[in-house]
Amino acid sequence: MTQPTTITLNDGHTIPQLGFGVWRLPNEDTPAIIKAAVDAGYRHIDTAQGYDNEEGVGTGIGQLDIPRDELFITSKERTGDQGYESTLKSFDGTMKRLMLETLDLFLIHWPAPRHDRYVETWKAFVDLQKQGRVRSIGVSNFLPEHIERIIKETGVRPAVNQIELHPYYQQRETREWLKAHDIAVECYSPIGGEGAALLKNPVIQDIAGLSTALLHRW
Ligand SMILES: NC(=O)c1ccc[n+]([C@@H]2O[C@H](COP(=O)([O-])OP(=O)(O)OC[C@H]3O[C@@H](n4cnc5c(N)ncnc54)[C@H](OP(=O)(O)O)[C@@H]3O)[C@@H](O)[C@H]2O)c1
Repeated sequence: MTQPTTITLNDGHTIPQLGFGVWRLPNEDTPAIIKAAVDAGYRHIDTAQGYDNEEGVGTGIGQLDIPRDELFITSKERTGDQGYESTLKSFDGTMKRLMLETLDLFLIHWPAPRHDRYVETWKAFVDLQKQGRVRSIGVSNFLPEHIERIIKETGVRPAVNQIELHPYYQQRETREWLKAHDIAVECYSPIGGEGAALLKNPVIQDIAGLSTALLHRW
């Protein structure tokens, strides 16, 4: 099995480029599905407190016959837990459920600007990283203005912004801004989210057919 391609983040750590998302998987099914994903070559698993399956991910990775340092595990903080002290407590919960010593990537799941707690939350993330409990810290669903604010208040850039991205929703301006600030774009809903609209697009079907034909020829 070839090693997955990795990308180097602005903090010097690497992330496997292709990840396996476990949103909507029930805890009881998650270990077997993770095993199937790892057998297929995935090394990067993306969960969140809000997916309510961190226990299943923890059990699944605990049953794998793969060294911990070959896996890359992401989780995301639930919006209701935002704030400095509540983030530290909520991170403890994640680590207990995942049964891990160190997390590879922790993200603020949503900025939730009306609550206005994402700056305090980010300060806790920075401290967790300084303590070595999480390797990389990042955000999800943040607009440039939210990221500018956390950088201004802490001096620390997120390594990643995980955002919805596919040919029907290209977010070009946000991507250009992230590139200029050396923040990796991590894409979710790559086949168009609910209903997988992209799979029905004739251009995408042509490209997929062409790729399959080329693969067969090789
Ligand atoms: N940070 C965030 O806020 C956020 C938000 C969304 C997702 N994510 C992450 O990104 C991951 C992927 O996102 P996603 O689930 O929205 O995206 P997706 O992979 O673009 O699409 C999922 C949709 O495609 C359908 N589907 C999947 N594989 C298919 C196939 N081979 N043939 C036909 N239909 C197929 C699914 O249908 P069924 O429902 O019928 O299976 C589902 O409706 C999540 O697991 C999560 O880790 C993050």
